Amino acid sequence: MKEVLDLEKVPSHIAIIMDGNGRWAKKKGAMRIFGHRHAIQAVKDSIEGAENLGVKFLTLFSFSTENWSRPQDEVNGLMELLVKTITDEVPMMIKNNIRLLSIGDLGSLPPAAFQKLMEAKSITSKNTGLTVILALSYSGKWEIAQATKRIAQKVSEGKLAVEDITQQLVADHLETAGIPDPELMIRTSGEFRISNFLLWQLAYTELYFTPVLWPDFRKEHLEAAILDFQSRERRFGKTGEQVKS
Ligand code: IPE
Ligand code: IPE
Ligand code: MG
Repeated sequence: MKEVLDLEKVPSHIAIIMDGNGRWAKKKGAMRIFGHRHAIQAVKDSIEGAENLGVKFLTLFSFSTENWSRPQDEVNGLMELLVKTITDEVPMMIKNNIRLLSIGDLGSLPPAAFQKLMEAKSITSKNTGLTVILALSYSGKWEIAQATKRIAQKVSEGKLAVEDITQQLVADHLETAGIPDPELMIRTSGEFRISNFLLWQLAYTELYFTPVLWPDFRKEHLEAAILDFQSRERRFGKTGEQVKS
C-alpha cells in the first residue's frame, strides 16, 4: 500500500470519528466496554501510522457532549479507560516526540481524568512531532456557542468592535485556534453522519466513510483512506480547469 501512496500529498491534519466499539463487542457476545477496551489498539496503530506517514495533526473524537447521556456504567468505564490509557501512553508519547492537546468541555470530566489529561498535555507540550488532539466532552455546536460567548464578552467590554468579527476571528476563538482545518475526516462503522464533530472546521474537508468497526481499524485502513483522499480533486468552489492549472 505504502508504495502507491504519494508521501508528498499526505494530509497534514486527519480527524477521525472512532465509531463502532459497541457493535464490535456485541458481535462477539461481549459487553460494550469490551469494545471500548479493544479500541485502544486501533488508537495506537493510527497514531503510529499517522506518524510514519508524516501527518502533523491527528484529531480523535473520543467522547462527545451527547455521550454523557449513555448508561452511567458505560460513561464511568470510558472515563476509567481514558485515565488508564493516558497513564500508559505518556512514555510512548515522550519517546516519539508526540504532543497531546485536547478540545472540549474539560471542566465536565471527572477530576481524575481532568488531572491526567492536564499532566500529559503539560509533559508533552514542547514536543515537535505529531500533535494528537483528543476531542473530549466535545461537540461542534457547543464549541461554536462557546466561541460566540467569548467574542460577545470582548465586544461588551469594548475590547472588540462588531466590525472586527471576521471568519478568522471566529476561528481564533474556537477550541482549535491555531490548528489548521482537517483535510481528511474518517468515520468508521458505516455511519454516514458528522454527529456534531468539528462543524466549523469540516467546511471543506474530504469525508471518508468505512464499514470497518473502530476496534478493527489498523494502519492499512488509514493508508487506504489517504489513498482515496489522494484520488480526489479539491476544488474549493473553483472549476476543475482552474485547479488543474
Ligand atoms: C464509539 O463507539 C465510541 C464512543 C462513542 C465513545 P460506540 O460506543 O458508539 O459504538 P457503537 O456505535 O454503539 O457500535
Ligand atoms: C460519535 O459517535 C462520538 C464519538 C465517536 C466519540 P456516536 O456513536 O456517539 O454517534 P451517534 O450518536 O451514533 O451519531
Ligand atoms: Mg456509535
